[in-house]
Amino acid sequence: MQNKQKNLIIGGGGREHAIGWKIAQSPRKPLIYFAPGNAGTIELGINVDIKANDINGLLEFAKKEKIDLTLAIPDDPLALGIVDLFKENGLRIFGPTKSAAQLESSKAYAKNFMAKYGLPTAKFMTFTDYDTAKIYLSMQRLPIVIKASGLALGKGVFICNSKEEAELALENMMLKKVFGEAGNEVVIEEFLTGPEISTHAFTDGENYSFFPTAQDHKRIGEDDIGENTGGMGTIAPLPFVDENLIQKIKNEVVMPTMAGMNEDGNSFEGVIYPGLMLTEDGPKILEYNARFGDPETQTYMRLLDSDLLDIIDACIDKKLSNLEIKWSNKSACTIVLASGGYPANYEKGKEIFGIHEAESNKNVKVFHAGTIMKEGILMTNGGRVLGVSAIGENLQQALDTAYEAVTKISFDGMQYRRDIGKKTLSLIK
Ligand code: AMP
Ligand code: GLY
Repeated sequence: MQNKQKNLIIGGGGREHAIGWKIAQSPRKPLIYFAPGNAGTIELGINVDIKANDINGLLEFAKKEKIDLTLAIPDDPLALGIVDLFKENGLRIFGPTKSAAQLESSKAYAKNFMAKYGLPTAKFMTFTDYDTAKIYLSMQRLPIVIKASGLALGKGVFICNSKEEAELALENMMLKKVFGEAGNEVVIEEFLTGPEISTHAFTDGENYSFFPTAQDHKRIGEDDIGENTGGMGTIAPLPFVDENLIQKIKNEVVMPTMAGMNEDGNSFEGVIYPGLMLTEDGPKILEYNARFGDPETQTYMRLLDSDLLDIIDACIDKKLSNLEIKWSNKSACTIVLASGGYPANYEKGKEIFGIHEAESNKNVKVFHAGTIMKEGILMTNGGRVLGVSAIGENLQQALDTAYEAVTKISFDGMQYRRDIGKKTLSLIK
């Protein structure tokens, strides 16, 4: 008998649980390791106590266990060069190289790339010198957007409505270094308006395959008020994005991005996720992510009908053009349940109740994020704790099912947004 394929999924969030859940359904019946995983991934495989950014520790583990395929999912290990390191050591790994992942890890790199290839994005300048940045700022119209160039857990973007606010943001980033090295370089850019959408594509460097479009809800508060978070809920596909717009996004965003990366000798392999704003002048790129979105992936995995392992193999082996990727024609959504206080300080270690009841509806799947099992008790262990996902014949049905399931779950301080998908529903009614 052939040995089972051994996979290592790096990361421990809801996204990684969803990817593991999907891969566990593969006809290959693989053995799955998660590093570090969470209380949900224990049911699918083996959690390994190695942090996602300990790329040398992960290499050692993959060599020792003879891992057949590693999935590098979060931004940090990609930015640290885990793909390069594994490949240099002859290991099979899915994800972009450190250099290609700069599309996400350096906003300055991404903006200069977009300018070089005429990709649609907000007008901008990049700065490494505080005084020059301050002078430039004084000449700009308000509101103005200031971004730390490096990775800042999604917190390094400031939309400033006054000159004072803008100067404070600049000072905090460049002089006080509140984001550490991520603020050594800043991007100052034009403020855009319009609905925001998430687009994803699998790529093998030459060809790409576009996912259904999705929408995240990044603010903590309903009606998109309050602080930015990692993401509080997602829906897919978006009923207001028609085939014409999808073609436009493919032609004006995805294809030229891949072509530009190839032109620069920096071919991108993995999942490319451009965050777009649909402005009156057409779609504009707000940012690139060099990975699957979280919580977009929890929603996407409910809709993906093909074997994810086949897709990943095709990306690594540059055979994506031979593969037809199938997506369900249903709708899906994910509602994030977060700890009280998130995205600021929050307490951990609260007992979680009701997941089993929530999943008694076969259209519901609860993905774990910040959870831990302690002496047989399931407890909260992070800001975003669970993602309650549901599928339905349409968006309204998926949302109704997910929200009904949410009522079964509780933990001390639990908060969630009650308006996921609401704006989109109002557009189609
Ligand atoms: P980013 O991490 O660059 O996607 O920015 C985080 C969030 O800030 C985005 O999801 C948008 O809501 C907002 N944002 C970023 N850039 C702009 C811009 N140029 N104009 C308006 N809003 C922006
Ligand atoms: N959904 C936001 C992100 O993954 O960056």
